Order: sequence, then C-alpha cells, then structure tokens
Amino acid sequence: MLAKDCEKKIILTGDRPTGKLHLGHYVGSLMRRVELQNSGKFDEINILVADDQALTDNWDNPKKIRDNIIEVALDYLSVGIDPDKSFICIQSAIPALHALTFYYMNMVTTQRLSRNPTVKSEMALRGFNGSSTENDNEAGLPAGFFTYPVSQTADITAFKATNVPVGEDQLPMLEQAKEIVRKFNNTYNCDVLVEPDIMLPENATQRRLPGLDGKAKMSKSLGNCIYLSDDPKTVKNKIMSMYTDPTHINISDPGHVDGNMVFTYLDAFLKDDSQFAEYLPEYKNLDEMKEHYQKGGLGDVKCKKFLLKIMEETLEPIRAERAKWVQDIGSVFDILKAGTDHAVKVTNETLNECRAAMRINYFDDKPSIVADWEAWEKESHQAQ
Ligand code: TRP
Repeated sequence: MLAKDCEKKIILTGDRPTGKLHLGHYVGSLMRRVELQNSGKFDEINILVADDQALTDNWDNPKKIRDNIIEVALDYLSVGIDPDKSFICIQSAIPALHALTFYYMNMVTTQRLSRNPTVKSEMALRGFNGSSTENDNEAGLPAGFFTYPVSQTADITAFKATNVPVGEDQLPMLEQAKEIVRKFNNTYNCDVLVEPDIMLPENATQRRLPGLDGKAKMSKSLGNCIYLSDDPKTVKNKIMSMYTDPTHINISDPGHVDGNMVFTYLDAFLKDDSQFAEYLPEYKNLDEMKEHYQKGGLGDVKCKKFLLKIMEETLEPIRAERAKWVQDIGSVFDILKAGTDHAVKVTNETLNECRAAMRINYFDDKPSIVADWEAWEKESHQAQ
C-alpha cells in the first residue's frame, strides 16, 4: 500500500543510542520532528531508540548503549519532543521487530545489501572489509551489521509508518524498505505493509551539517561536533576555534563564504532578519554580511561572536529543559516504558497481519488451515 492511500498518517523515526546527539542531528532531524509533532497533521508519532541496531557494531559494549539510551531520551525531551504528543520507545523491547526482521531477511539478497551505499560507507568507516579469513574473524563483516537495513525495514513497517523524517544519509534505507514492502505484499498477495515516504529537511545545509573543522559531516567519530548538552563555555570555545577561511588573514583581506563554517552555520541556524537588528545591526540580513566579508573589512572574531549569539538562542532553551529532566530520570524511564508498551501493541498487530497473510498463523486460523490440509491430502491421494 502506498503511504498516500493510508487513512492514518504515522511517523516513525529514530536514532542509534551510541552517543549524545549533536547539532547535526538537531538540524538534520530533531528540529523537524518537533515541528511535525506540533503541526497536528499526524495521527501518531513514534520515535525509536534503536539499541539493537546500535549493538550491531557495539555488541561487545552493551553498557555504552544502555547509558546512551537515557542520554538520547534526554536529548529528545530537551529539544521539545513532548511525551503527550509523541511516543518514545526502545527497540530491543519490541519483540515483533525481531520476528519481522527474520521474515524480511528472506526477501533481500546479500548482493542487494552489498550495494547499499550507506552500509558501504559505514563498513569502510568501521574497518569491516568483508574479507574475513578463518584465523581472523575480527577482520570480517558481522552478519548482524550487514543486515541492519532489514531490521530497519522491520522498524518502519511494523508501525505502518507513512512518513519517515530522517537525514539524507538514510535515503538508501528507505529505498530498501520500499523494495521489501513491495516484495512482501506481492509474494503474499496482500496489502498489509505500507511503502513509507521519506521526509528530508528542506534546507540543503540542514540536510548534512558539516563539522566544526569543515569536514563533510558533523560526527562523533570525527570529533568535530557541538553537542546539545555542551555547556556555554564549551560552545564558545568550539565556535571561536571553528574553521573559516585560511586565506582571510587580515581583516581587510577579501574572504570566502563558501566552505567557511561560520557562514555555513549561519545559513543553517539563522531564523530571521530580526536577529540582525538585535545582535548585528550594521547589516540588514545575511546577504549584506556575506558581501562585506567577501569584499574585505569584516573580521572572523566578529562573525563568530554573532554566530555564538545565534547558536545560543537555539541551545540555551534546550539546556534549560535538559536540566529539568535530569532531576527526574524516573519520569524519563516511565516515558520510555509507556512509549514501548504502545509500540509492542501496534507492532504485534502488524506481525499478526503479516503471519495471517503468509498463513502461518497456525493457532488463530485452525479451521481453515486444517481444511486446507485436508484438501491437499485428498488431492495427493488422488494423484497416486
Ligand atoms: N539508522 C538510523 C541512524 O543511524 C536509526 C534508525 C533505526 C532509524 N531504525 C530507524 C531511523 C527507523 C528511521 C527509521 O540514525
């Protein structure tokens, strides 16, 4: 079934709890989730803390994942995910996801999985080169990691998600999910699963926020992040030392704005021109400021101080909200439990529908399965 034909609009999205969330997550996905949550246009919003997926390359360190589940939940709540409007759930506590993964595993080839560009680049990053030898298991590619797109398809389809708001790097996952959905529905001649639509951020810079060092992506492993939980001093230090334009040595030199992180971040974080009136009244808008920088005469320190004000407008309320929740981890846990209970219920329904479509729901459909068997047995006698 296509998402547009579904009666209910359901969002499913999520993150791996491998670390604190940073500004790349914020502009690429979290900010949008909050907008969507508050738009009133969706019947249901589910946010999955994907701990099983995180274990695919951290199986030897479950403590790291466990601690970060709480960290990520705090990040969600502090950016404005409202537990009265959105469910937050924990992947490993939702058994239907495991069962569906097992069925979907048959509907995708290893060749197809090897072509998934996200898996390819993540393999390279982790040194999973796929060339394991008998005496060197460590060098190989863990089967669980290799097949995680299948498990992600289970996540999305189990909730019957119509919309999946994620960053651009997740596009290949959505393609994979659609293929599996079509294959399942065709094979079992049913309309149980929904082909999800991806929702990408509208602003190109927000789709993939580069790191403080100017590298293509803000990422924990590259050590070029501002975390949502960073204190004001840390944020200030990070911004004051971020990558700008190495050819812009003296204030009077002409400068480049492309590839200059201060301007890239301003593109991503400025809300409207009134922020100029408030913090940098010499310019009406970002275009004027960029023009001056390009001509020469505008120094990096001034630009960075302005950026810091803009960033703090975003970060300060997040920090304040986080401080409240940190005092009440018990409630954070209760929120996770309530969201997970809901998830167990809806995903079990989907699993039952899938098993019914495959007619492997033996104990729910005893009369017709027995009748089928009787007919088959009779036929095979006649054939003899
Ligand atoms: N792969 C996502 C990430 O790396 C996390 C994730 C797991 C997810 N299951 C999902 C995202 C389902 C969207 C929908 O961040």
